[in-house]
Amino acid sequence: MEKSTFHVAIIMDGNGRWATARGLPRVAGHRAGADAVRRTVEAACKLEIGTLTLYAFSSDNWGRPAAETGALMQLFEAYLSSEAARCLENGVRLEVTGRRDRLSPALLAAIAIAEATTAHCEGMRLRIAVDYSGRDEILRAARLALADFSPERFLSPESILSGESLSGSLGPDVDLLIRTGGEHRLSDFLLWQSAYAELVFTPVMWPDFTARDLEAALAEFRSRDRRFGGIQSYSGGSPPGLVFHRL
Ligand code: IPE
Ligand code: IPE
Ligand code: MG
Repeated sequence: MEKSTFHVAIIMDGNGRWATARGLPRVAGHRAGADAVRRTVEAACKLEIGTLTLYAFSSDNWGRPAAETGALMQLFEAYLSSEAARCLENGVRLEVTGRRDRLSPALLAAIAIAEATTAHCEGMRLRIAVDYSGRDEILRAARLALADFSPERFLSPESILSGESLSGSLGPDVDLLIRTGGEHRLSDFLLWQSAYAELVFTPVMWPDFTARDLEAALAEFRSRDRRFGGIQSYSGGSPPGLVFHRL
């Protein structure tokens, strides 16, 4: 069976408001959000999505009270510890993207175990963005490329830093970007990779997100005409030769 290259990215927003509306502490919303992640990963596997990138914690989220950021970090650790085995069973390759230098040793260990356990999996690629900033990621990729520069073997700036080389290190372009929680913004998520992503915004708060909502977003995607700056339309997919989509 041909492997799907279809990339769905989700800004999982609305946990806090979901909890507040129920008279619960915000952290209860994050806990319910973790259950929605489990459901969504399962649904995405069934829908043959190639890559699913989930925005779990932005670098700007460090500006929240320490009690909330601490609880979120503990939830990530618990999620990784409990889900690594399930990912393995389902052939899901789990990766964490974002800055690592501000994460606790316990969380780093859980990430290392989850990534190593599922490294050989050939099914869906699940990327969880923690301490992630799109701008910071672009800067770091550019700095890494420039580190290759040496005056002895003269290389032109273009040869060490091109659109292609940056795209290669930043990972796959996004086909469908979903944001829950009713806000219409990117909040520093996958800025480079979403250049031609189809955007779907839903008022559903993340803890209430179900397989049906994911299917509805995919149906919306299929109804769109993607033109990539040209005049030909690639309904529900990308131009052949650029990226091939099975959906
Ligand atoms: C998304 O939900 C989870 C994180 C950003 C960590 P929020 O916590 O932003 O929930 P709202 O937007 O305040 O409702
Ligand atoms: C974006 O949500 C980050 C995540 C969902 C992890 P925020 O709630 O932090 O975004 P803003 O502050 O509303 O832009
Ligand atoms: Mg929010």
